[in-house]
Amino acid sequence: MKKRILVTGGAGFIGSHVIRHLVNKYSDYLVVNLDKLTYAGNLTNLADVEHNSNYLFLRGDINDEGLMHRLFQEHRFDAVIHLAAESHVDRSIASPNEFVFTNIVGTVNLLNAARHHWGDQPEGKLFYHVSTDEVYGSLGDTGLFTEETPYDPRSPYSASKASSDHLVRAYHHTFGLPVIISNCSNNYGPNQFPEKLIPLFINNIRNNKPLPVYGKGENVRDWLYVLDHAVAIDTIFHKGTVGETYNIGGHNEWRNIDLIRLMCRVMDRKLHRPEGTSEGLITYVTDRAGHDMRYAIDSSKLQQQLGWVPSLQFEEGLELTIDWYLENQQWLDAVTSGEYQQYYDNMYKDR
Ligand code: NAD
Ligand code: TYD
Repeated sequence: MKKRILVTGGAGFIGSHVIRHLVNKYSDYLVVNLDKLTYAGNLTNLADVEHNSNYLFLRGDINDEGLMHRLFQEHRFDAVIHLAAESHVDRSIASPNEFVFTNIVGTVNLLNAARHHWGDQPEGKLFYHVSTDEVYGSLGDTGLFTEETPYDPRSPYSASKASSDHLVRAYHHTFGLPVIISNCSNNYGPNQFPEKLIPLFINNIRNNKPLPVYGKGENVRDWLYVLDHAVAIDTIFHKGTVGETYNIGGHNEWRNIDLIRLMCRVMDRKLHRPEGTSEGLITYVTDRAGHDMRYAIDSSKLQQQLGWVPSLQFEEGLELTIDWYLENQQWLDAVTSGEYQQYYDNMYKDR
C-alpha cells in the first residue's frame, strides 16, 4: 500500500463520506476507520465499501491512550485524518464534559501517538485535523471568517474544537509534528444524524411534527454539501502545505427561517401535499443559549491556492438530500428509535 491512513470518526456523517471517497478513489491506500460508534456513528453508512480490500474498520475510543499506541505500532500509519468528535452544539450545552474528553483529551492522545511513532523524522507524514468555522465566534451583518480571524468560541462545542486546534498547532510549533487544519462551515447531505437542523426538520415534516425554530429564526449559517467537504479534505490532504490552515465554505448563506421555508416547499412538492402544509408546522421556540448569530466563510485561500471549488448549487444539494432521506426511511427509522426518543423529549420538552 502506498499510504496507510488512519481516519477517526469514519462512521459518522462527514467521516463516512470521506472514507467512501478515499476508498473508491485510491485503491493503493489502506484506509483504517477508527470509531467508537457513539449514538452518531453508524456502520450502515459504509455498507457499500465494508468489503473493500483497502478498507478496515476498528471499533475503539480515541481516549484510550494504550490503544492509540498499539494501533500506530501495528499499522504504521503515514497519516491521520482526524474527524472523531462530539459535534452537536445543543448536546454540548446540555452536558459539556464529553466534549472535553473526546474533542480535547482524545485529540491530545492521537497527537502523542503520532509524535511518538513518527519520531524526530516525520518527513512525508501528516496529521490532518478537521475543524469547524465555529471556533471564530459569531459575525455581525457583514464580514467573513478568514484564516486570520481571531478565535472567539462561544459554546462548549466550539470551545472544545478551538482547544483542539490550538493543541494541534502547538504540537507543530513545539515538536515539529507535520499538521494541517481545515475549518469548514455547516455541512448538509445524506447520513447526517437528525439532531442537526436539516435532517431533523426533514424527519419532522415527514412525520407531521412541529418544526422547532430557535428564537426568531434570523440566525445565518453558510451551508456546504458534505461531498464537497470530502473533496476539499482530499485536495488539502494531497496539495496543502504543512503548518497551514484552510477555510472551507460554499459562499452560501441562509437565514434559518428562509432555509426552513424552502425545505417546506420542496417537501410539500415531494410528498404531494398541498402547498403551505409543512409551513404550518413551524413553531417558534425558546432560543438556544448563547446562540451564535451568523457564520460565513471566506474560502478564497483554498480556492486560489489549491484550486478547490464547490460543485453544487444549494437548491440542487437540498433536493438530493431530501430525496436521500425519503428513499432511506429505514435508515431514519433505525437511528430515531430507542435513545433518540429520549434525546428528543429532553431537548425540546421545555422550549
Ligand atoms: P458526527 O457526530 O456525525 O460523527 C462523529 C463520529 O465520531 C461518530 O461516528 C462517533 O461515533 C465518532 N466518535 C465520537 N467520539 C469518539 C471517540 N471518543 N473515539 C472514537 N470515535 C468517536 O460528526 P460530523 O458532523 O461528521 O463531524 C465530523 C468532524 O467534522 C467533527 O470533528 C466536527 O467538529 C467537524 N465539522 C463538522 C461540521 C458539520 O457541519 N457537521 C462542520 C465543520 C466541521
Ligand atoms: P445546527 O444544525 O445545530 O448547527 P450549528 O448550531 O452547529 O450551526 O443548527 C443550525 C441552525 O439552526 C442554528 O442557528 C440553530 C438552528 N436550529 C433551530 O432553529 N432548531 C433546531 O431544532 C435546531 C437543531 C437548530
